[in-house]
Amino acid sequence: MPLRAVRLSIVDLSRVKAVLRQRLQLMREGVHGRKVIVIINGKGGVGKSSLSAALAAALAKTGLLVLLIEIDEQGNHCEDLGTTGTELADDGKAQAAALLEGKPLTPTGEARPNLFVVPGGSALQDVIEELYCQRRVAAASDDPEDRLAWMGMYAAAIEAVRHSYDVVILDVAPGSEPLQLQALVAGDMALVPTRSDPSSRKGLRTVARRFALAMQLNPMLRLLGVVVFATASAATKVQQKIRGQLTKDLDGAAGVMEQTIRHVEAAAVACRTHGQVPQELATHPDLEPALRRSMTALAGDYRSLTLEVLQAKAALDQADANRKVRA
Ligand SMILES: Nc1ncnc2c1ncn2[C@@H]1O[C@H](COP(=O)(O)OP(=O)(O)OP(=O)(O)O)[C@@H](O)[C@H]1O
Ligand SMILES: [Mg+2]
Repeated sequence: MPLRAVRLSIVDLSRVKAVLRQRLQLMREGVHGRKVIVIINGKGGVGKSSLSAALAAALAKTGLLVLLIEIDEQGNHCEDLGTTGTELADDGKAQAAALLEGKPLTPTGEARPNLFVVPGGSALQDVIEELYCQRRVAAASDDPEDRLAWMGMYAAAIEAVRHSYDVVILDVAPGSEPLQLQALVAGDMALVPTRSDPSSRKGLRTVARRFALAMQLNPMLRLLGVVVFATASAATKVQQKIRGQLTKDLDGAAGVMEQTIRHVEAAAVACRTHGQVPQELATHPDLEPALRRSMTALAGDYRSLTLEVLQAKAALDQADANRKVRA
């Protein structure tokens, strides 16, 4: 069996540390506005990719320049955005080259007008291996900053392209702690989709722990909120109970978004089959009436959620401005 080619990384952690220090200063001075949204949960199948794609498409439609980065080996966005088999689907190669070879984090293309994508895929296996190595080396360091710096590799890569976009959305793999820490250090704000079952709520507590760890390197990171995903019940009482449980899990760290995403499996399947997000597919002429109704309702959920996300972001921006005035 041929040996797998060994890829030599040229990760420069002193540059990573310098970039992180500069970013923190720029954010504290109000020069950098918040634009990097991390969509994360330690649990799989809670709607991270569906939400990332729908939110990215909705924001791009308003005219904002959006960069969507899938930090996940699964490469689900190709299905969500219909780019499978096109030149935009590179199986994570551009992302791996940026992280491991110091190349600019260049999108593979524009999946929609204003929506630029850096896909995930199997090339991220090399990135994950590298992150484990970096973490092991860092653990042996006596310097507290050096012990954390490996977590900033994605932040440094994203920082170099940040000025080109209005919003950057990171969709993060559920199973990889190193990737989640990277994303949380790279992010300015996090959005956490969850289902309401006990194991999804456990995933939420895992994220809370990682959030605290990432904040050591990225103290400006804030939670935008938690989104209840694929909820089967529209009943107010059930919704209130879920909201109460989640608020308790979060220990006051963030709010639960008012807008939930309803459970409509047929619509979700149709979206991935057509490679379109619900807002796009709702107007498809060939949908049969029942599917059109559920698609339209789902599209409405995403539309309202996008507005709520923008409002939550505006509240964070206002808090930043107030803090700057007090300083
Ligand atoms: N509104 C919905 N109702 C029911 N099922 C949905 C809905 N939206 C998406 N799904 C389905 O739920 C599953 C999980 O969605 P998605 O892939 O977005 O989650 P994820 O958190 O990104 O998963 P992973 O952890 O594997 O990356 C998919 O099969 C998707 O088709
Ligand atoms: Mg996913």
